[in-house]
Amino acid sequence: MTTSPNNYVPRHIGIVMDGNGRWAKARHRPRSFGHNAGRKAVREVVEGCLRHGVQALTLFAFSSENWQRPEEEVGALLDLFVRALDKEVDELHGNGVRLRFIGDLDAFEKPLQRRMLEAMRRTAGNDKLHMNIAVNYGGRWDIVQAARKAAMAVARGDLAIEAIDEAAFDRWTSLSEVPPLDLFIRTGGDRRVSNFLLWQLAYAELYFTDTLWPDFNQISLQHAINDFARRERRFGRTGDQVAQA
Ligand code: FPP
Repeated sequence: MTTSPNNYVPRHIGIVMDGNGRWAKARHRPRSFGHNAGRKAVREVVEGCLRHGVQALTLFAFSSENWQRPEEEVGALLDLFVRALDKEVDELHGNGVRLRFIGDLDAFEKPLQRRMLEAMRRTAGNDKLHMNIAVNYGGRWDIVQAARKAAMAVARGDLAIEAIDEAAFDRWTSLSEVPPLDLFIRTGGDRRVSNFLLWQLAYAELYFTDTLWPDFNQISLQHAINDFARRERRFGRTGDQVAQA
C-alpha cells in the first residue's frame, strides 16, 4: 500500500454523499437525475484521493434504509450501479484502484451481485487506492455481523471468549483491511452520521458541508483535507502531551 506524503493527509476518508435529490429538484428534474450527476462527483473524489495519496475511500452509496424509498428511485439507483460498474471499472483498474463492495450483498439480484464480485476480483491486486462502496450497508449491521462471526468462532471452539478484544473484533468488521478512518465527510447540510461506519467513527474527524453531492469536486475535497490538517488529534491525551510527542 502507498504511504501518505505527510501526516496531514487522511489515510482513510468516508463520505455520506447527500443532496442528490435536492440538486435535481432545484433543476426541476427527477431525483434519479441527481444520482446520475453524483457519479461525476465520485470520479472527482477518486482523482483527488489518488493525487493526495489517500489510501482508502469509503462511499455510502446505498444504505440498508434506502430500500424504503419509492420503488422507481430504488430501481434507478440499482440501474445506475450496474451502468457505473460497466463503464468505470476499466478506468479504476487502470488507475490502480482496488474496488470493494461492503454490505449485505445477498439482497441484490444475482446479475448485479456477479458484476460486483467480478469487479472486486479484477481489481483485487491493486493498491494505489482502496475504494469501498457501501451498498445495503448499515453500521449496526456491520457490528452485528462481526459479533456473529465471533460467536461462531467461540461455538466452534476456535476462539476463547477472553481473546475477543477491540483489535480482534475489528478483524471481523467489513473494513478490517484498510487503515483507520481519519476523516468523515457529509455533504448536503445535515449534521448526522446516519448509521454509516459506526465502529470506525470512534476517532475520526467529522467534516460537514452544505455543498450538495453533485457539486462536490476536487476543490471541495481539498477544503476538507485542509480543515482536517488544522485539527489537533489528541486521542484522549492532553494538548501538551501531543505537542511533546
Ligand atoms: C443521497 O442523496 C444519495 C444517495 C442515496 C445515493 C448515492 C449514489 C450516488 C452518488 C451515485 C453514484 C455512486 C456510485 C458509487 C456509482 P439524497 O437522494 O438523499 O438527496 P436529498 O437529501 O437531497 O434528497
